[in-house]
Amino acid sequence: MALKQSLFFFSIILLQQHHFSAAQSTDVKAAYWFSELEFPADSIDSSLFTVLYCAFAHLSNQTFQVYIPPELTQKFATFTSTVQKRNPSVKTLISIGGGKANKTDYIAMASDWNRRQAFIQSSITLARENNFHGLDLDWEYPSDTTQMTQFGYLVDEWRTAVAEEANNTGRSPLLLAAAVFYSSDYYSVHYVVPALARSLDWINVMAYDFYTPASNSSPTLTKPPASLYKDATERYGGDDGVSTWINESFPVNKMVLGLPFYGYAWRLVDANRNGLYAPANGPALAGDSTLGYTEIKKFIADNQNVGETVFNGTVVTDYCYAGTTWIGYDDEQSISRKVSYAKNRGLLGYFGWHAGADSDMILSGQG
Ligand SMILES: *[C@@H]1O[C@H](CO)[C@@H](O)[C@H](O)[C@H]1NC(C)=O
Ligand SMILES: *[C@@H]1O[C@H](CO)[C@@H](O)[C@H](O)[C@H]1NC(C)=O
Ligand SMILES: *[C@@H]1O[C@H](CO)[C@@H](O)[C@H](O)[C@H]1NC(C)=O
Ligand SMILES: *[C@@H]1O[C@H](CO)[C@@H](O)[C@H](O)[C@H]1NC(C)=O
Ligand SMILES: *[C@@H]1O[C@H](CO)[C@@H](O)[C@H](O)[C@H]1NC(C)=O
Repeated sequence: MALKQSLFFFSIILLQQHHFSAAQSTDVKAAYWFSELEFPADSIDSSLFTVLYCAFAHLSNQTFQVYIPPELTQKFATFTSTVQKRNPSVKTLISIGGGKANKTDYIAMASDWNRRQAFIQSSITLARENNFHGLDLDWEYPSDTTQMTQFGYLVDEWRTAVAEEANNTGRSPLLLAAAVFYSSDYYSVHYVVPALARSLDWINVMAYDFYTPASNSSPTLTKPPASLYKDATERYGGDDGVSTWINESFPVNKMVLGLPFYGYAWRLVDANRNGLYAPANGPALAGDSTLGYTEIKKFIADNQNVGETVFNGTVVTDYCYAGTTWIGYDDEQSISRKVSYAKNRGLLGYFGWHAGADSDMILSGQG
């Protein structure tokens, strides 16, 4: 396509994007629903949200088509009607990929025009057949310049296909979103910001998992897993990530800030040294040492006579401890501070990962 034509084409597309483009600050109040877990979709108080993601659809390493795992097809097929019972205007998106998906397959898909088309067309079909309003790609993460370039091609071609499908069917275009690294700079490799800006309705900025007790992160010091502001000694903070996107001219009103509805548990070396940056000895729990918010509240209740909870408003994190167990997480104060931050900075909104971890809808209700 000649440059002039493509510019014309994109301006048509921009006119068609009526859904969330008017800069009302918290248009997107979202959460992911992780369909593999027990927590049922009808337990989400969808009246607290404008957008819900059904996670995850997968990518075939043979055909490069998107598919829903057979054991989840019923959950996906009924998701929209289920969550619309309490909120008829909530929008639903199929989320594709996720942190556990095999990156190799996404790299292979994005590297080739035919494979990208297989991904794109199958995703559109899947969304329409299952009554969703849009699609979200969670590729963690394109990690070199070539992959970033091809991710840019993918979202541009996705937008073109979605616009064509809407034009051909007379339906509203599907919404397109992507979950991205907290920063536009992925360890010195930059996202192709203009492509994401013109072709996605918004990005989900994953401003969490900055520090964990895992051996490749911060096993020997307790740290805030998802602080909003970094202090002098820290590398990561959500606000800093947001600024990198804005500095590269990504539109602030297309950014949706990620909120963790979970935390990480460290094992303290000394029960009496229990603040931020206290000496630690790795994870306190097996596996990835994460606890959902509901489980953390249970830990706090079970230890109410021996433990403490602390909100640190300088970096914006909560933590709690009892004995030698120390948990860094987001409680009501951190979440409400981050929601205010999103509003004050003019972001499009915020999303929580994930609704089932906040089964009593306490954090979900902070908007
Ligand atoms: C392709 O994916 C399937 C299902 O996830 C897996 O069993 C298989 O090993 C994969 N093939 C290759 C070549 O990785
Ligand atoms: C990811 O997929 C590639 C090819 O599809 C395969 O060779 C590799 O073993 C897979 N990796 C994991 C961790 O499953
Ligand atoms: C929309 O559809 C019309 C009629 O089918 C066609 O002429 C036009 O090229 C299409 N435009 C786009 C952007 O696909
Ligand atoms: C964003 O740009 C401003 C002005 O150039 C600069 O001071 C700031 O350090 C940048 N922030 C980030 C996080 O890159
Ligand atoms: C919050 O954490 C920062 C960074 O470690 C620290 O400098 C500050 O003293 C803490 N604030 C409170 C009230 O503990």
